[in-house]
Amino acid sequence: MIELLDKYLNNEEQKEFLEIVKPIIESEEFKYRCTSVFKHHDNITLGEHILEVAILTYLECKKRNNVSINEAVYIAMMHDLYTNPWQNNPNNKVKYFFNKHGFRHPVEAVINSANWFPEIYKKYDINILIDGIIHHMYPLPVRVYNDKNLELKTNNQIDGDLKKALIDSTNRCKIGDISFCRSRYKEGRIVSMCDKKVTRIHLKNVTSLTSGVTGRNKNITN
Ligand SMILES: [Fe+2]
Ligand SMILES: [Fe+2]
Repeated sequence: MIELLDKYLNNEEQKEFLEIVKPIIESEEFKYRCTSVFKHHDNITLGEHILEVAILTYLECKKRNNVSINEAVYIAMMHDLYTNPWQNNPNNKVKYFFNKHGFRHPVEAVINSANWFPEIYKKYDINILIDGIIHHMYPLPVRVYNDKNLELKTNNQIDGDLKKALIDSTNRCKIGDISFCRSRYKEGRIVSMCDKKVTRIHLKNVTSLTSGVTGRNKNITN
C-alpha cells in the first residue's frame, strides 16, 4: 500500500487522500481484500486494485472543476467490494449467463458497501455513489436489480431509499436483464475511466481479459 501511495502522490496529497479513505482502509472487509485470497487481475490483490483506482481518481478530480473529490474517491473505494474471490472459485458459479460475476458484481458492491459503510451513504449523495458503482464497468453491461433470481453471493440486504436508488440506476438503458449505460454523474465516469486505466496497466494477456467472463484464470499462482 505504501508503494502505491509513494508511486503516485506527494506527502501532502497522501495526507489528504488517506484522510478520505481512512474509514474504508481500516475496515476488516477491506483488509481481507488486501490478502492473497482476493486476487483481482492475475496476482494483483483486490485491495491493491481498488486503492490504485482510488488514487488515480483522486488525482483526476484534482485536475477538474466542479467534481466532488470525496464522492468520486468513495465510489472508487467501493466499486469492486463484491463478496467472493471470483477467479478459479467454484463457489462463485451461477446458472444464468447474465448473473455471472462480470455483470453481477457491481450490484453486490453496492449492497455490501451500503451495509459495511452506512456512515458514508448517510453523508453523501446516494444516487451519485450508487450510480457510479453500478455503471463502472461500462461499456460492459450490468445486471438489472429485479425480482428474478440474481444469484447474488451476499447475505446483506438493502431497503428504503438505497433500494430505490439501486433499482433506478440499474433500470436505466435496460435491455432484458441488463443495463447498458455509463454513469449519469461525472464522479462515476471518472472512476470508470481510472478503473480501465489500472486494468490496462496490469493485464498480462488475453487470458487475463477473458477470465472476466469465464471466471477461470491460469495466470494465477497459488
Ligand atoms: Fe469491477
Ligand atoms: Fe475495478
